[in-house]
Amino acid sequence: MNDIELNIEGNNETAERKRNEEVKDEWINYDVDGDPKISVSNLNVWYGEERAIKDISIDIPKKSVTAIIGPSGCGKSTFLRCINRMNDRIRNAKIDGSIRFDGTEIYQNNLNLVELRRKVGMVFQNPNPFPKSIRDNVLYAPRKHGYIEKNFLEKILGRTKQKEKNILEKSLKQAALWDEVKNRLDDNALGLSGGQQQRLCIARCLAVDPEVILMDEPASSLDPIATSKIEDLIVSLSNNYTVIVVTHNMQQAARISDQTAVFLTGGELVEYDETTKIFENPESKRVEDYITGRFG
Ligand SMILES: Nc1ncnc2c1ncn2[C@@H]1O[C@H](COP(=O)(O)OP(=O)(O)O)[C@@H](O)[C@H]1O
Ligand SMILES: [Mg+2]
Repeated sequence: MNDIELNIEGNNETAERKRNEEVKDEWINYDVDGDPKISVSNLNVWYGEERAIKDISIDIPKKSVTAIIGPSGCGKSTFLRCINRMNDRIRNAKIDGSIRFDGTEIYQNNLNLVELRRKVGMVFQNPNPFPKSIRDNVLYAPRKHGYIEKNFLEKILGRTKQKEKNILEKSLKQAALWDEVKNRLDDNALGLSGGQQQRLCIARCLAVDPEVILMDEPASSLDPIATSKIEDLIVSLSNNYTVIVVTHNMQQAARISDQTAVFLTGGELVEYDETTKIFENPESKRVEDYITGRFG
């Protein structure tokens, strides 16, 4: 390149942009070990005329924590809701592209949505336990979906109760809540602290044996101690489950996740890589600016 060209700012910017575009595919084609649990290809989502997700492709590995970070309004929640087809319920949402779960397309007609949402559980920002007992919260979905047999003989022999007890204890233990509530299982869940309520919501999700757990800013309404418990829990859950967690807290993403996807304004996936790489040495200038707090 000759000197004159280099000195012209406009051309410089163009060259920079071109270089960025050329390497961009590499930043988001992070190769996961083994078959991905979830494979998203060319996902686009619109609300009416407005596009919230722009052509996102990403593979999510099993049994690990994937963090989704990015500024408010960049499509993180929308993306999460695509994975268990919750956006289907939003009337003006239009979704285009493919999401495969263990290789099976979830955007196909006749997919069993109840089964999908059992396998892909979701935990929201504000804990939302039912105004029922702790026990009834955890057992709500197993009872509803026929996990607990109700035939006459089992009822007489007391097996239904035993089965309920097992699911209740196992789920609460997995959610690191058992010790705190084992003596008050029939108390109303709304009497629990915020952090306990959130762990109860996680237990409720675990009670139907999910494979993937989607968490949308699960600790952002909690105090630091409750947050730290949820963070520890997320890490331990990833031994058995595929966890995808949206957070706008970058330190949290850095602490708990194995890989991080950075979404930026416009619903773009700008960079996806191992978490240490994203935080220590991102490829994209925009990601670096976002992480160092210069933007977003
Ligand atoms: N139900 C909806 N109807 C219309 N627009 C929506 C709806 N949900 C989200 N949006 C818009 O889509 C964009 C992405 O939103 P969202 O996924 O909630 O972002 P984030 O979770 O990153 O803050 C925003 O511009 C938001 O206003
Ligand atoms: Mg959100």
